[in-house]
Amino acid sequence: MGKVKKKGKERGEKGIREEIPRFPDPLVLLRWYDRHRRALPWRAARGEKPDPYQVWLSEIMLQQTTVATVGPYFQKFIARWPTLGDLAAASLDDVLRLWAGLGYYRRARMLHLCAQRLRDDYGGEIPQDEKSLLTLPGFGPYTAAAVAAIAFDRPANVVDGNVERVMARVFHINEPLPKAKKALRAAAAALVPQKRCGDYAQALMDLGATVCAPRSPTCALCPWQEACQAHALGIQETLPRRARVKPKPVRRGFAFVLVNPAGEVYLRRRPPHGLLAGMMEAPGSPWREGSMPRLAEARPYAPAKAKWRLCPGVVTHIFTHFTLELTVATATTAQSLSGLWLAPDALDREALPSVMKKIVRHAVKGV
Ligand code: ADE
Repeated sequence: MGKVKKKGKERGEKGIREEIPRFPDPLVLLRWYDRHRRALPWRAARGEKPDPYQVWLSEIMLQQTTVATVGPYFQKFIARWPTLGDLAAASLDDVLRLWAGLGYYRRARMLHLCAQRLRDDYGGEIPQDEKSLLTLPGFGPYTAAAVAAIAFDRPANVVDGNVERVMARVFHINEPLPKAKKALRAAAAALVPQKRCGDYAQALMDLGATVCAPRSPTCALCPWQEACQAHALGIQETLPRRARVKPKPVRRGFAFVLVNPAGEVYLRRRPPHGLLAGMMEAPGSPWREGSMPRLAEARPYAPAKAKWRLCPGVVTHIFTHFTLELTVATATTAQSLSGLWLAPDALDREALPSVMKKIVRHAVKGV
């Protein structure tokens, strides 16, 4: 039970037993972390100082992306660009190529821009305080706090989705997300210790990612079980509550996969602004809400006059604000078009967004 019974004189005037909740102790969490911390590629070994460049790179990659997905990308980046100076000297195209598949490509552009800013204005060093970090490209309040805490051991309030879940449960914060964010931040702020700030931030993340999982939390293994109000009430799995989310709209369109006699696929560059800005794509019709366009309607957007054949089924891709469904048509041509001709087995080496890889694979399968 997350309660401490008051004894003797501490009881209320009429001798009624009052129960006050135990407060979650950061030191208890740190002790748990010392035994159970996850070994992650960007994490400094016990007793070693973290490399701020690696901390920053990992935090940018981990925005909206899982630890499991980020691992190999992080390792590829560090192998190719071991220092901030190396990354600043790289071409944006190369950065985008290595980033391909991680999604949210704006992050890669901001990462590259930020590396150059740090090289040019900060002597190649990452500033240590949250306020300066917040002025840099790609930094929001979460990333500034995470880098200040993890790279520089500053007492910053690092609140991500995992931390929100832990706070909602430990303090029984019933208000639904996203409205509860302010209360969850305030709860987390009250616990931030003055020492071992980086370890504490990572300990909270690890607790949320492992023990205090969204479903079936393993409360018996939790260092804060005794302090957890949701556990005392047996309602841990119901928290945090969430306001009902509206289903995403569905946009539909056509993608055209043109193949040359060598079996290579035609790609062109998307416009420099908007979704997937500047990335390579299979040409297609605009994406619209409503019914799937028919081939006759989409044909004017085809990259060449050819005998277009429909591939059975649709390609589905989920973006932040909408779901995309695409019908794919394919044709062969001997025409030479300006753009990129890519062998399907080279897909993984190119800076191709996941949705475009899905389209080409779907077409190649259907040929
Ligand atoms: N999620 C975001 N940042 C993280 C980190 N540094 N360690 C583990 N999970 C994370």
